[in-house]
Amino acid sequence: MQLKDNFDRPIKYLRLSVTDRCNLRCFYCMPEEGMHFLPKNQLLSYEEMLRITDIYSGMGVNKIRITGGEPFVRKDLIHFLEKLSKNPLLNKISITTNGILTKAFLPQLKALGIHQINLSLDSIDEQNFKKITRRDVFTTVMDTFYQLLADGFQVKINAVIMEGINDHEILDLANLARMHPVSVRFIEEMPFNGSGKSKKLNTWNHQKIHKQLESHFINFRKITAPENSTSANYTFDGASGNVGIIAAHSRTFCGTCDRIRITSTGEMRNCLYGHNVLNLKKLMREGCNDSEIKTQIIDVIQQRAKDGFEAEKLRGQLNPIEESMSVIGG
Ligand code: 5AD
Ligand code: SF4
Repeated sequence: MQLKDNFDRPIKYLRLSVTDRCNLRCFYCMPEEGMHFLPKNQLLSYEEMLRITDIYSGMGVNKIRITGGEPFVRKDLIHFLEKLSKNPLLNKISITTNGILTKAFLPQLKALGIHQINLSLDSIDEQNFKKITRRDVFTTVMDTFYQLLADGFQVKINAVIMEGINDHEILDLANLARMHPVSVRFIEEMPFNGSGKSKKLNTWNHQKIHKQLESHFINFRKITAPENSTSANYTFDGASGNVGIIAAHSRTFCGTCDRIRITSTGEMRNCLYGHNVLNLKKLMREGCNDSEIKTQIIDVIQQRAKDGFEAEKLRGQLNPIEESMSVIGG
């Protein structure tokens, strides 16, 4: 079967957050101190995750992204990935990581057929990286980056652009795509930082990022992006890779959205900006069978908002965005 929402959009892509914990403290994602991480029994166990991914893949999901927090902070992630990669209905498994613990696992990832890695890298300046992430691990992350390239992974760099923080590095970051066969994606900052507040959220929107890139690179031109992609992709003369711009806050791409999310608390979300719509953890722990769970999934998929603005509105004023991206999954 192919799961479809109330707007007839096929749902093929699941983003699964395996932990809310992280070994960085990127300020657009978490406060420096006082993060209350979840006790382990509030996270899904790997067995529960495998059960859920089986259920969704049986309903037409064929692509999964593993997110966090930082996925590799969770113990035995690689064993979970081993089992997940045995699911014949999944065409693609990819991971978003900050690259701190990742390098040691690259040979195993490759052997499992996990070829696509998104690396969070908001600065290529050691001091600035430290300021943004509040940790001193730039060289470790760059080491992972070069190893990913050497091993032939498909690498995407995720850079959240923030006024007065790393906006002066846009061209330097884009130059990574000149030198290497990678996709450098510039992401609009979103309010998922653990407090919901950010004064400067709208400054560096996708148009402004585009303008800066276009005025600098020769023959900066659009290239076709994969179906349902959230990024508008571009190349330029002399580029080995390409750049992407993700209008994560302007939300220009919702019309073709094919994705759902499982938060680290085991709840299903129809939209990043929306609320949790189904507590899968509770259903499983209360002893529901697969077909009961499927019925409930079909039910909530029929209540999807048409876009991220409507989803945000539906949360209501009593439920404003103040969660960290690390809980929802980046
Ligand atoms: N705004 C935009 N992107 C964010 N991410 C996390 N928090 C935010 C935010 N507030 C994304 C970044 C990071 C990934 C883990 O999640 O791209 O690389
Ligand atoms: Fe960790 Fe990613 Fe959040 Fe940074 S953005 S603190 S790497 S989960």
